[in-house]
Amino acid sequence: MALSKFLGLFLIHIALLSSSCFAADPFVFYDFEVSYITASPLGVPQQVIAINNKFPGPTINSTTNNNVVINVRNKLDESLLLHWSGIQQRRSSWQDGLPGTNCPIPPKWNWTYQFQVKDQIGSFFYFPSLHFQRAAGGFGGFIINNRDIIPIPFGSPDGDITILIGDWYTRNHTALRKALDAGKDLGMPDGVLINGKGPYQYNDTLVPDGIDYETIDVHPGKTYRLRVHNVGISTSLNFRIQSHNLLLAETEGSYTVQQNYTSLDIHVGQSYSFLLTTDQNASSDYYIVASARFVNESQWKRVTGVAILRYSNSKGKAAGPLPDPPQDEYDKTFSMNQARSIRWNVSASGARPNPQGSFRYGSINVTEIFVLKNKPPVTIDGKRRTTLSGISFVNPATPIRLADQFKVKGVYKLDFPSRPLTGPPKMETSVINGTFRGFMEVILQNNDTKVQTYHLSGYAFFVVGMDYGEWSENSRGTYNKWDGIARSTTQVYPGAWTAILISLDNVGVWNLRTENLDSWYLGQETYIRVVNPEVTNKTELPMPDNVLYCGALSKRQKPQDISFATSITTSSWKLFLAVLMVASALLFH
Ligand SMILES: *[C@@H]1O[C@H](CO)[C@@H](O)[C@H](O)[C@H]1NC(C)=O
Ligand SMILES: *[C@@H]1O[C@H](CO)[C@@H](O)[C@H](O)[C@H]1NC(C)=O
Ligand SMILES: *[C@@H]1O[C@H](CO)[C@@H](O)[C@H](O)[C@H]1NC(C)=O
Ligand SMILES: *[C@@H]1O[C@H](CO)[C@@H](O)[C@H](O)[C@H]1NC(C)=O
Ligand SMILES: *[C@@H]1O[C@H](CO)[C@@H](O)[C@H](O)[C@H]1NC(C)=O
Ligand SMILES: *[C@@H]1O[C@H](CO)[C@@H](O)[C@H](O)[C@H]1NC(C)=O
Ligand SMILES: *[C@@H]1O[C@H](CO)[C@@H](O)[C@H](O)[C@H]1NC(C)=O
Ligand SMILES: *[C@@H]1O[C@H](CO)[C@@H](O)[C@H](O)[C@H]1NC(C)=O
Ligand SMILES: *[C@@H]1O[C@H](CO)[C@@H](O)[C@H](O)[C@H]1NC(C)=O
Ligand SMILES: *[C@@H]1O[C@H](CO)[C@@H](O)[C@H](O)[C@H]1NC(C)=O
Ligand SMILES: *[C@@H]1O[C@H](CO)[C@@H](O)[C@H](O)[C@H]1NC(C)=O
Ligand SMILES: *[C@@H]1O[C@H](CO)[C@@H](O)[C@H](O)[C@H]1NC(C)=O
Repeated sequence: MALSKFLGLFLIHIALLSSSCFAADPFVFYDFEVSYITASPLGVPQQVIAINNKFPGPTINSTTNNNVVINVRNKLDESLLLHWSGIQQRRSSWQDGLPGTNCPIPPKWNWTYQFQVKDQIGSFFYFPSLHFQRAAGGFGGFIINNRDIIPIPFGSPDGDITILIGDWYTRNHTALRKALDAGKDLGMPDGVLINGKGPYQYNDTLVPDGIDYETIDVHPGKTYRLRVHNVGISTSLNFRIQSHNLLLAETEGSYTVQQNYTSLDIHVGQSYSFLLTTDQNASSDYYIVASARFVNESQWKRVTGVAILRYSNSKGKAAGPLPDPPQDEYDKTFSMNQARSIRWNVSASGARPNPQGSFRYGSINVTEIFVLKNKPPVTIDGKRRTTLSGISFVNPATPIRLADQFKVKGVYKLDFPSRPLTGPPKMETSVINGTFRGFMEVILQNNDTKVQTYHLSGYAFFVVGMDYGEWSENSRGTYNKWDGIARSTTQVYPGAWTAILISLDNVGVWNLRTENLDSWYLGQETYIRVVNPEVTNKTELPMPDNVLYCGALSKRQKPQDISFATSITTSSWKLFLAVLMVASALLFH
């Protein structure tokens, strides 16, 4: 027979696979079953979102250029999208997992993400992007290791430890969502979790009995890489470890100039790698602390995360007061100076052998400028909303990228203003018109009273300046044009601005949002649409075959054969893809 028929089928499958990835690069596979479980991180039983029955979810471990395949089964009672925060999704916003670009995965369905972690290294995390679900969990770390042939700018660590910190409410995410929909503020969180666990009982009055806390086990005389992510809702956290220095080494995909910090402020959505040297004499265990910043500490004492660093030769329990936070209550200058001290190691290799600083961002001419200004929440049409430049973003029923593909008109407007609107605020699906291969300067001006962090998907941007007051043209004189860090999330202090530069080389539709979950939920975001006027599949991958349809395109969606989805086993699916991978590698080399 049928050899020809067999080969024909084979080639079809290879074509399908190679259409969206580079067959020669290795694959890593994950199966994520997303469901509710009951947990009591703060001593109160509540519904949390688990992945494979784990809260937080498993860490994804990949290497530069790997093809990552994640089959997501939605066992929640709501639709779901997973967003891979900081993963650049080169040439494919189809996999970004945000409502402006992808249709949601309905309850009981599964959907397979497949993307290449092209030319990236570093520490990132994933989380569910719809319905305020991140407040209930569903998050986990995402590591991209250097390829063996590319040196890392420090000795190979003796261990690699992911630490997820974040503020937490004992109310479930539907209750929190209802409060926001009713125009209420969420109020003070009930605690800070470290890896999904509540605080160690360092004080009997402040911490009740019977709370399960996180313990990090280490050996003396070693160096560990700690990857710390703030996956919380809206609280900036100060991270510190008693009697230990934190040597900052990497942030969101860039190696930094290595410097010691006794503590570092980690704002919502930010990720940092520290090298921790276990150089203490282990007279006891040590506290790991994540405490709220810029708040009245006497009121916020119980909103403090405490975990334990335990040496294998430890002589006893951690005791006494927690290590001090920065002594600068209400003074954000210290924090801003610390942020400015985080710089790019321009001579270190990134994901490629050439130095990170070989892209001389400081000598490139800016082609378009956007000043984006946020304000405290406002009322629009009787609803409490947040805005960016006077616009409160409304997610379209038909995702923007899909609407473009099928030429559905009227889904969004490409009219996001380059300067804040002065008229009354409005609700719109208004998108930034980005010029492919342009070099965009964005000034984020925070007119609110709380720190905001902004994140751009699809890119790493250069953080070139931040200061108090209103930004003006003269502010450019203070820009760091040499070693500003390239990352995907930056803080903007209240009454201050942060300037970023973006090289618009990634075609797609990319979300620019505040990471503060309540502000995001109420509309503080937009998208940047980057289109290559030349029709080619070299700058953007074709739409994946398994794309989901919704909104104006719902009729195209076939019902999912759930019986097939549950009958085929994971291992046979992996084997199937592995066979194809080997076969395509043989054919193309
Ligand atoms: C890319 O485009 C070329 C020519 O336009 C076409 O031959 C090729 O099949 C396309 N590849 C994919 C993966 O769509
Ligand atoms: C990630 O995988 C690599 C290679 O398989 C392994 O050496 C490394 O220890 C893993 N890292 C983590 C944090 O699991
Ligand atoms: C659902 O998962 C199965 C494997 O468990 C996979 O074969 C199938 O392609 C998935 N369906 C979709 C729509 O991704
Ligand atoms: C920067 O990276 C280089 C190359 O890996 C390394 O030798 C150097 O120690 C790093 N410098 C700092 C200050 O971290
Ligand atoms: C979520 O919280 C609301 C309000 O407290 C409660 O009525 C509901 O039962 C909770 N849902 C679950 C699944 O725990
Ligand atoms: C525990 O916390 C309470 C309230 O902040 C404080 O008054 C008390 O001194 C603390 N106890 C110890 C042993 O530090
Ligand atoms: C950082 O602190 C450690 C001690 O904890 C010290 O050994 C190391 O030399 C310091 N590194 C830098 C770059 O200051
Ligand atoms: C070492 O341990 C002793 C008690 O065993 C303690 O008094 C001393 O302060 C410790 N030194 C350091 C540097 O932690
Ligand atoms: C902080 O809170 C305490 C207790 O509620 C209050 O007495 C104090 O005045 C507050 N401090 C400031 C600076 O607001
Ligand atoms: C930037 O613009 C200046 C003047 O407008 C021009 O002289 C220079 O060549 C431009 N630089 C680049 C790299 O395009
Ligand atoms: C978007 O920008 C491109 C240039 O990059 C321009 O040709 C186009 O007219 C703009 N579209 C709108 C709606 O402003
Ligand atoms: C907000 O903007 C107004 C008008 O520009 C200014 O007077 C005020 O100081 C700003 N407030 C903050 C917190 O930035």
